[in-house]
Amino acid sequence: MRILLVASAFNSLTQRVHAELRDRRHVVEVHPAGDDDALRGAIAGSAPELVVAPMLRTALPRDVWSALPCLIVHPGPPGDRGPSSLDWAIHEGAVDWGVTVLQADEVMDAGAVWATAACRLPPVGKSDLYRNEVSDAAVGAVLRAVERFASGAFTPRPQSGPDWRVPDHTRPYLRQETRRIDWAGDATDTVLRKLRAADSQPGVLDDLLGAEWYLHGGHREHVLGGRPGELLATRAGAVCRATVDGAVWIPELRRRRHPGGPATFKLPAVTALGDALPALPEVPAPLMPAPEDQVWSDISYREDGPVGLLRFSFPGGAMSTGHCRRLLDAYRFALARPTSVLVLGGGRDFFSNGIHLNVIEAAPDPAAESWANINAIDDLVEAVLTTTDRLVVAALGGNAAAGGVMLALAADEVWCRQGVVLNPHYRLMGLHGSEYWTYTLPRRVGAAEAGRLTAQALPVSSAAALRGRLVDRVLPCAPQDFGREAGRLAGLLAASPTAQGRIAAKKAAREADELVKPLAAYRREELAVMRRQFFTPDAPYHALRAAFVRKRPAPAPAPRR
Ligand code: COA
Repeated sequence: MRILLVASAFNSLTQRVHAELRDRRHVVEVHPAGDDDALRGAIAGSAPELVVAPMLRTALPRDVWSALPCLIVHPGPPGDRGPSSLDWAIHEGAVDWGVTVLQADEVMDAGAVWATAACRLPPVGKSDLYRNEVSDAAVGAVLRAVERFASGAFTPRPQSGPDWRVPDHTRPYLRQETRRIDWAGDATDTVLRKLRAADSQPGVLDDLLGAEWYLHGGHREHVLGGRPGELLATRAGAVCRATVDGAVWIPELRRRRHPGGPATFKLPAVTALGDALPALPEVPAPLMPAPEDQVWSDISYREDGPVGLLRFSFPGGAMSTGHCRRLLDAYRFALARPTSVLVLGGGRDFFSNGIHLNVIEAAPDPAAESWANINAIDDLVEAVLTTTDRLVVAALGGNAAAGGVMLALAADEVWCRQGVVLNPHYRLMGLHGSEYWTYTLPRRVGAAEAGRLTAQALPVSSAAALRGRLVDRVLPCAPQDFGREAGRLAGLLAASPTAQGRIAAKKAAREADELVKPLAAYRREELAVMRRQFFTPDAPYHALRAAFVRKRPAPAPAPRR
């Protein structure tokens, strides 16, 4: 079927719907929402049989939806309406939720229902839920709706009339006044719900050290406490703030924009506060906590017999120079442990999206910081590539892009959760890329496919990644179960009779590859191009990065001379 996807952003869900529909041999085009005339032009040009809108911030024009069936994904169960569905659900502590695919109609979210799907809401941030549980449900519902439409034998259920038993529940936009934290009154559970409902956007507006900040992300602290609202400690760039009955870790902050001033963007809290931060103790989490310890940390190591599990989770999957160095230290610690299989990753949500564009943008010298960051991530990738005494599995519980995909490809096996979307390319950020991709990507998929993936710069679904040998295994499990399932399968790998033989073979293969072309040569060649892109002030990377972090559309390419 010819399907036009209309979306306010080519975000994770839109990318996934796009990839899954293409996997099912539909002819899919994507058009950005917002400009009604351009949309009419796109429809006239591609003559779709169906419009699907996975993520819309604006209504579709009447003449479009009255001429052509338009299916809208609403991230709420039937009867739920309004622009902040998921925010409200988390804010109020809902545990069971759902997604509805409905036909565009006069009243927003009130059209006839083509499909629904239920999902759970575990206690994690909104964007994480959106990219995982909600996305799984949305894709299931969209595929069912498209099948039903294609069959021609299905009549969508209007949201009114005798067999409609769900009460209408229209919610307004969730405003900052409602999100606001009362540090002197809100218990930790309430504070965490408010932070999660606003994570990663829009954040919770708050006063901190005499200025207005949006707080992004929130994790429970189990030991520290103090005067409610007081800052208590730092850990890995996050700040710990006391509540009435405990404390929470806040990893990122964004300064409130002055009216008419430049757009602001998120940064690790300690970086954002800079000199305004009073002297606070740095309270690191143990890298290898005892099983009973409940401690928030962005990097942790566990062991289960012959399997080491090195888990990491950075907001937005972005890895700054500091993140990469800390992860490399942890990786070296893991290598000193007596295991035969090391699982890298295994957490929920983003595996990695490469170098930290926000930290780079905020640095006094972004080119120098880009250079430090790419070298730090390269050092990490090199450590993975040169691990020859055990098998390394990259376990992707969530999406990965650019250098984050290439980090995964350095492992011996790449496993991902069903539904993960990979973006194995750098072109959209105006970069050639490093992370030894010129070695690892062709090694996996062949030179021709590597060229196609990096040039086309399209998202790849987990199913397509498996077919194309970009990943070795797809785990069909819920987001919450991925880490456990990856650990279990790693145990089977360690116990398999072929494991020791594979370790010996990988060592031999690495040595043979090194003779053909040393790893240092791949890095040198990649970094020679990257150096030019970083240190040329009018290279597209700088304008693309500035737009990306401020959530502005990418600038149009300069006319060719
Ligand atoms: N640096 C800093 N922040 C990043 C990031 C990076 N490399 N990659 C993603 N993020 C952040 C986004 O700003 C966004 O923040 P928000 O939640 O506050 O809005 C969040 O992660 C999710 O990204 P978003 O773009 O909204 O998700 P998506 O699913 O629509 O797209 C990507 C995912 C990875 C395709 C897109 O974020 C991207 O292109 N990232 C840059 C990849 C890159 O070029 N890395 C550098 C070269 S190695």
